Amino acid sequence: MQLKRLKAFHTVAQLGSFSDAIGVTGLSQPTLSRLIKQLEEDIGVELIDRYHRPLQLTPAGGFFYEKVDLILRELDSTITLTQKMAHPPDTLNIGFVPSVLYGLLPTIISRLKQRLPSLDIHLKDISSFRQVDALKAGEIDVGFGRFAHDDANLNQLLLRHERYVVALPKIHDLADQHDIHLKQLQDSRIILYHQTHLPISNISITVPDNNDAPLFISEPLLHLFSKQSALPHHTTSVSDIQVALGLVAAGEGITLVPDSLKSVRSDQISYRTLIHEDATSPIYLCALQAPTHPAFSILLDVIYDIYEERGVTYRRINKSVF
Ligand code: BEZ
Repeated sequence: MQLKRLKAFHTVAQLGSFSDAIGVTGLSQPTLSRLIKQLEEDIGVELIDRYHRPLQLTPAGGFFYEKVDLILRELDSTITLTQKMAHPPDTLNIGFVPSVLYGLLPTIISRLKQRLPSLDIHLKDISSFRQVDALKAGEIDVGFGRFAHDDANLNQLLLRHERYVVALPKIHDLADQHDIHLKQLQDSRIILYHQTHLPISNISITVPDNNDAPLFISEPLLHLFSKQSALPHHTTSVSDIQVALGLVAAGEGITLVPDSLKSVRSDQISYRTLIHEDATSPIYLCALQAPTHPAFSILLDVIYDIYEERGVTYRRINKSVF
Protein backbone atom coordinates (compact mmCIF):
# COMPACT_ATOMS: atom_id res chain seq x y z
CA MET A 1 0.00 0.00 0.00
CA GLN A 2 1.49 3.32 -0.99
CA LEU A 3 1.97 6.11 1.51
CA LYS A 4 0.79 8.57 -1.15
CA ARG A 5 -2.64 6.86 -1.25
CA LEU A 6 -2.95 6.98 2.55
CA LYS A 7 -1.99 10.67 2.60
CA ALA A 8 -4.50 11.52 -0.13
CA PHE A 9 -7.31 9.79 1.80
CA HIS A 10 -6.19 11.37 5.08
CA THR A 11 -6.20 14.91 3.66
CA VAL A 12 -9.59 14.58 1.96
CA ALA A 13 -11.12 13.00 5.09
CA GLN A 14 -9.56 15.60 7.39
CA LEU A 15 -10.75 18.58 5.32
CA GLY A 16 -14.08 16.94 4.40
CA SER A 17 -13.77 18.19 0.83
CA PHE A 18 -11.96 17.35 -2.38
CA SER A 19 -11.65 21.00 -3.43
CA ASP A 20 -9.95 21.98 -0.13
CA ALA A 21 -7.65 18.95 -0.44
CA ILE A 22 -6.65 20.09 -3.96
CA GLY A 23 -5.41 23.36 -2.47
CA VAL A 24 -3.41 21.62 0.27
CA THR A 25 -1.88 18.76 -1.74
CA GLY A 26 -1.50 20.47 -5.13
CA LEU A 27 -3.01 17.34 -6.73
CA SER A 28 -5.93 17.51 -9.15
CA GLN A 29 -9.38 16.10 -8.27
CA PRO A 30 -8.99 13.13 -10.70
CA THR A 31 -5.61 12.25 -9.15
CA LEU A 32 -6.99 12.43 -5.59
CA SER A 33 -10.02 10.31 -6.60
CA ARG A 34 -7.79 7.75 -8.31
CA LEU A 35 -5.43 7.47 -5.29
CA ILE A 36 -8.36 6.96 -2.90
CA LYS A 37 -10.00 4.43 -5.24
CA GLN A 38 -6.71 2.50 -5.39
CA LEU A 39 -6.50 2.56 -1.58
CA GLU A 40 -10.05 1.20 -1.34
CA GLU A 41 -9.08 -1.58 -3.75
CA ASP A 42 -5.91 -2.30 -1.73
CA ILE A 43 -7.89 -2.95 1.45
CA GLY A 44 -11.16 -4.10 -0.15
CA VAL A 45 -13.26 -1.59 1.78
CA GLU A 46 -15.27 1.43 0.63
CA LEU A 47 -14.00 4.41 2.66
CA ILE A 48 -15.91 7.34 1.17
CA ASP A 49 -19.67 7.45 0.69
CA ARG A 50 -19.80 8.82 -2.84
CA TYR A 51 -23.57 9.32 -2.81
CA HIS A 52 -23.44 11.99 -0.12
CA ARG A 53 -22.90 15.74 -0.51
CA PRO A 54 -21.09 17.18 1.37
CA LEU A 55 -18.52 14.42 1.41
CA GLN A 56 -18.98 11.76 4.09
CA LEU A 57 -16.91 8.79 5.20
CA THR A 58 -18.46 5.35 5.54
CA PRO A 59 -18.40 4.01 9.14
CA ALA A 60 -15.40 1.84 8.17
CA GLY A 61 -13.83 4.91 6.54
CA GLY A 62 -14.27 6.90 9.77
CA PHE A 63 -12.57 4.15 11.77
CA PHE A 64 -9.76 3.91 9.21
CA TYR A 65 -9.25 7.70 9.25
CA GLU A 66 -8.77 7.75 13.06
CA LYS A 67 -6.13 5.01 12.85
CA VAL A 68 -4.35 6.50 9.84
CA ASP A 69 -4.30 9.89 11.57
CA LEU A 70 -2.40 8.39 14.53
CA ILE A 71 -0.01 6.51 12.25
CA LEU A 72 0.80 9.57 10.13
CA ARG A 73 1.39 11.73 13.22
CA GLU A 74 3.67 9.06 14.66
CA LEU A 75 5.50 8.84 11.34
CA ASP A 76 5.98 12.62 11.22
CA SER A 77 7.38 12.77 14.73
CA THR A 78 9.61 9.74 14.09
CA ILE A 79 11.06 11.43 11.02
CA THR A 80 11.65 14.69 12.93
CA LEU A 81 13.22 12.85 15.84
CA THR A 82 15.46 10.81 13.54
CA GLN A 83 16.58 13.98 11.80
CA LYS A 84 17.33 15.55 15.19
CA MET A 85 19.30 12.49 16.25
CA ALA A 86 21.37 12.62 13.08
CA HIS A 87 22.01 16.34 13.63
CA PRO A 88 21.60 16.73 17.41
CA PRO A 89 20.97 20.27 18.66
CA ASP A 90 24.04 21.40 20.55
CA THR A 91 22.10 23.19 23.29
CA LEU A 92 19.61 22.12 25.93
CA ASN A 93 17.69 24.92 27.66
CA ILE A 94 16.41 23.90 31.06
CA GLY A 95 13.87 25.91 33.06
CA PHE A 96 13.68 25.30 36.79
CA VAL A 97 11.94 26.63 39.87
CA PRO A 98 14.33 27.85 42.60
CA SER A 99 13.31 25.14 45.07
CA VAL A 100 14.78 22.33 42.90
CA LEU A 101 18.11 24.13 42.79
CA TYR A 102 18.66 23.35 46.47
CA GLY A 103 18.09 19.65 45.83
CA LEU A 104 19.47 17.41 43.15
CA LEU A 105 19.50 19.77 40.16
CA PRO A 106 23.21 20.75 40.41
CA THR A 107 24.24 17.07 40.63
CA ILE A 108 21.95 16.16 37.72
CA ILE A 109 23.43 18.90 35.53
CA SER A 110 27.04 18.09 36.27
CA ARG A 111 26.38 14.38 35.60
CA LEU A 112 24.60 15.24 32.33
CA LYS A 113 27.61 17.33 31.28
CA GLN A 114 29.87 14.32 31.89
CA ARG A 115 27.62 12.09 29.78
CA LEU A 116 27.19 14.64 26.96
CA PRO A 117 30.32 16.80 26.98
CA SER A 118 29.52 18.55 23.70
CA LEU A 119 26.03 19.61 24.84
CA ASP A 120 25.72 23.26 25.85
CA ILE A 121 23.34 23.43 28.82
CA HIS A 122 21.60 26.69 29.71
CA LEU A 123 19.72 26.99 32.99
CA LYS A 124 16.87 29.47 33.37
CA ASP A 125 15.10 30.33 36.59
CA ILE A 126 11.39 30.27 35.58
CA SER A 127 8.28 29.72 37.73
CA SER A 128 6.22 26.54 37.07
CA PHE A 129 3.47 28.72 35.66
CA ARG A 130 5.75 30.56 33.17
CA GLN A 131 7.44 27.33 32.06
CA VAL A 132 4.45 26.45 29.85
CA ASP A 133 4.79 29.62 27.76
CA ALA A 134 8.57 29.27 27.71
CA LEU A 135 8.26 25.71 26.34
CA LYS A 136 5.78 26.80 23.69
CA ALA A 137 7.95 29.77 22.70
CA GLY A 138 10.98 27.47 22.38
CA GLU A 139 12.84 29.37 25.14
CA ILE A 140 13.35 26.13 27.05
CA ASP A 141 13.37 22.46 25.98
CA VAL A 142 12.48 21.08 29.38
CA GLY A 143 11.22 22.46 32.68
CA PHE A 144 11.48 21.20 36.24
CA GLY A 145 8.60 22.47 38.33
CA ARG A 146 6.31 21.70 41.21
CA PHE A 147 2.93 21.82 39.43
CA ALA A 148 1.16 19.81 36.76
CA HIS A 149 -0.53 21.86 34.03
CA ASP A 150 -3.81 21.22 32.36
CA ASP A 151 -2.49 21.41 28.79
CA ALA A 152 -2.70 18.66 26.17
CA ASN A 153 0.38 20.02 24.37
CA LEU A 154 2.58 19.11 27.31
CA ASN A 155 4.28 15.90 28.29
CA GLN A 156 4.54 15.96 32.10
CA LEU A 157 6.33 13.32 34.09
CA LEU A 158 5.92 13.11 37.84
CA LEU A 159 9.45 12.31 39.03
CA ARG A 160 8.84 12.06 42.75
CA HIS A 161 7.15 13.54 45.79
CA GLU A 162 9.29 15.40 48.29
CA ARG A 163 8.18 15.68 51.93
CA TYR A 164 7.52 19.14 53.33
CA VAL A 165 9.34 20.14 56.52
CA VAL A 166 8.49 22.97 58.91
CA ALA A 167 10.95 25.89 58.95
CA LEU A 168 10.87 27.66 62.34
CA PRO A 169 13.02 30.39 63.90
CA LYS A 170 15.49 28.79 66.33
CA ILE A 171 13.76 30.58 69.21
CA HIS A 172 10.28 29.14 68.41
CA ASP A 173 8.64 26.97 71.11
CA LEU A 174 8.43 24.04 68.68
CA ALA A 175 11.99 24.45 67.35
CA ASP A 176 13.19 21.27 69.08
CA GLN A 177 10.09 19.15 68.56
CA HIS A 178 9.95 16.32 66.00
CA ASP A 179 6.87 15.17 64.10
CA ILE A 180 4.89 18.37 64.31
CA HIS A 181 1.14 18.30 63.60
CA LEU A 182 -0.12 21.20 61.45
CA LYS A 183 -2.68 21.98 64.15
CA GLN A 184 0.22 22.96 66.43
CA LEU A 185 1.11 25.73 63.93
CA GLN A 186 -2.33 27.29 63.69
CA ASP A 187 -1.50 30.21 65.97
CA SER A 188 1.84 31.02 64.33
CA ARG A 189 2.12 33.39 61.38
CA ILE A 190 2.53 31.30 58.23
CA ILE A 191 4.66 32.76 55.44
CA LEU A 192 3.23 31.85 52.00
CA TYR A 193 5.44 32.07 48.93
CA HIS A 194 3.83 30.12 46.04
CA GLN A 195 3.20 32.17 42.90
CA THR A 196 1.18 29.37 41.28
CA HIS A 197 -2.00 28.08 42.83
CA LEU A 198 -3.27 24.52 42.63
CA PRO A 199 -5.45 23.79 39.60
CA ILE A 200 -9.09 23.35 40.69
CA SER A 201 -8.97 19.67 39.61
CA ASN A 202 -6.30 19.00 42.27
CA ILE A 203 -8.27 20.60 45.08
CA SER A 204 -9.90 17.83 46.98
CA ILE A 205 -11.16 19.78 49.93
CA THR A 206 -13.39 22.73 50.62
CA VAL A 207 -14.00 24.43 53.91
CA PRO A 208 -17.11 26.38 54.80
CA ASP A 209 -16.70 30.14 55.01
CA ASN A 210 -18.84 32.39 57.14
CA ASN A 211 -21.92 31.83 54.98
CA ASP A 212 -21.37 28.07 54.87
CA ALA A 213 -20.70 28.34 51.14
CA PRO A 214 -17.75 26.18 50.05
CA LEU A 215 -14.45 28.03 49.93
CA PHE A 216 -11.82 26.55 47.61
CA ILE A 217 -8.31 26.73 49.00
CA SER A 218 -5.91 26.69 46.09
CA GLU A 219 -2.81 28.13 47.75
CA PRO A 220 -0.67 24.97 48.17
CA LEU A 221 0.41 25.48 51.80
CA LEU A 222 -3.04 26.60 52.96
CA HIS A 223 -4.46 23.57 51.16
CA LEU A 224 -2.26 21.29 53.32
CA PHE A 225 -3.44 23.07 56.47
CA SER A 226 -7.08 22.91 55.39
CA LYS A 227 -6.84 19.14 54.83
CA GLN A 228 -6.02 18.86 58.54
CA SER A 229 -8.77 21.35 59.47
CA ALA A 230 -6.01 23.58 60.78
CA LEU A 231 -6.19 26.78 58.73
CA PRO A 232 -3.74 29.29 60.24
CA HIS A 233 -5.08 32.49 61.82
CA HIS A 234 -2.35 34.75 60.42
CA THR A 235 -0.54 34.64 57.10
CA THR A 236 1.92 36.81 55.18
CA SER A 237 2.52 36.40 51.43
CA VAL A 238 5.94 36.99 49.89
CA SER A 239 7.38 36.70 46.38
CA ASP A 240 9.50 33.56 46.67
CA ILE A 241 10.81 30.79 48.87
CA GLN A 242 14.14 32.50 49.66
CA VAL A 243 12.31 35.59 50.96
CA ALA A 244 10.04 33.32 53.03
CA LEU A 245 13.08 31.67 54.63
CA GLY A 246 14.64 35.09 55.22
CA LEU A 247 11.54 36.15 57.14
CA VAL A 248 11.59 32.92 59.15
CA ALA A 249 15.25 33.59 60.04
CA ALA A 250 14.21 37.09 61.16
CA GLY A 251 11.57 35.57 63.47
CA GLU A 252 8.62 36.95 61.46
CA GLY A 253 6.82 33.62 61.15
CA ILE A 254 7.18 30.03 60.02
CA THR A 255 6.76 28.24 56.73
CA LEU A 256 6.75 24.81 55.09
CA VAL A 257 9.42 24.01 52.49
CA PRO A 258 10.43 20.88 50.55
CA ASP A 259 12.95 18.77 52.45
CA SER A 260 15.87 19.68 50.14
CA LEU A 261 15.85 23.27 51.44
CA LYS A 262 16.87 22.13 54.93
CA SER A 263 20.42 23.39 54.44
CA VAL A 264 19.35 27.02 53.82
CA ARG A 265 20.19 29.36 56.76
CA SER A 266 20.40 26.34 59.04
CA ASP A 267 22.26 28.42 61.64
CA GLN A 268 19.14 30.58 62.11
CA ILE A 269 16.35 28.19 61.15
CA SER A 270 15.24 24.93 62.71
CA TYR A 271 13.80 22.41 60.21
CA ARG A 272 11.39 19.91 61.74
CA THR A 273 9.55 16.91 60.29
CA LEU A 274 5.80 16.89 59.89
CA ILE A 275 3.68 14.02 61.16
CA HIS A 276 1.67 14.03 57.89
CA GLU A 277 3.31 11.70 55.37
CA ASP A 278 1.11 13.00 52.57
CA ALA A 279 2.30 16.61 53.04
CA THR A 280 4.51 16.50 49.96
CA SER A 281 5.56 18.69 47.06
CA PRO A 282 5.80 16.92 43.68
CA ILE A 283 8.65 17.42 41.19
CA TYR A 284 7.60 17.33 37.53
CA LEU A 285 9.62 17.15 34.36
CA CYS A 286 7.72 19.05 31.73
CA ALA A 287 8.32 19.17 27.97
CA LEU A 288 6.31 19.65 24.82
CA GLN A 289 4.70 16.59 23.30
CA ALA A 290 6.79 15.03 20.50
CA PRO A 291 9.07 15.86 18.80
CA THR A 292 11.48 15.68 21.70
CA HIS A 293 15.07 16.60 22.35
CA PRO A 294 17.43 13.62 21.87
CA ALA A 295 19.12 14.35 25.22
CA PHE A 296 15.88 13.64 27.16
CA SER A 297 16.42 9.94 27.38
CA ILE A 298 19.93 10.43 28.84
CA LEU A 299 18.62 13.16 31.17
CA LEU A 300 16.07 10.71 32.57
CA ASP A 301 18.73 7.99 32.92
CA VAL A 302 20.89 10.44 34.86
CA ILE A 303 18.00 11.42 37.18
CA TYR A 304 17.09 7.79 37.88
CA ASP A 305 20.75 6.79 38.43
CA ILE A 306 21.09 9.55 41.03
CA TYR A 307 17.83 8.52 42.73
CA GLU A 308 19.07 4.90 42.89
CA GLU A 309 22.49 5.89 44.27
CA ARG A 310 20.93 8.08 46.96
CA GLY A 311 18.09 5.73 47.87
CA VAL A 312 15.48 8.33 46.87
CA THR A 313 11.90 7.01 46.70
CA TYR A 314 10.55 7.74 43.23
CA ARG A 315 8.21 6.51 40.57
CA ARG A 316 9.99 5.23 37.42
CA ILE A 317 8.32 6.26 34.19
CA ASN A 318 8.38 4.35 30.94
CA LYS A 319 10.89 6.31 28.86
CA SER A 320 9.10 5.52 25.63
CA VAL A 321 6.70 8.39 26.38
CA PHE A 322 9.57 10.68 25.34
C1 BEZ B 1 14.89 16.13 42.39
O1 BEZ B 1 15.29 16.70 43.43
O2 BEZ B 1 14.34 15.04 42.40
C2 BEZ B 1 15.10 16.84 41.10
C3 BEZ B 1 15.57 18.14 41.09
C4 BEZ B 1 15.75 18.77 39.88
C5 BEZ B 1 15.48 18.14 38.70
C6 BEZ B 1 15.00 16.83 38.73
C7 BEZ B 1 14.81 16.19 39.91
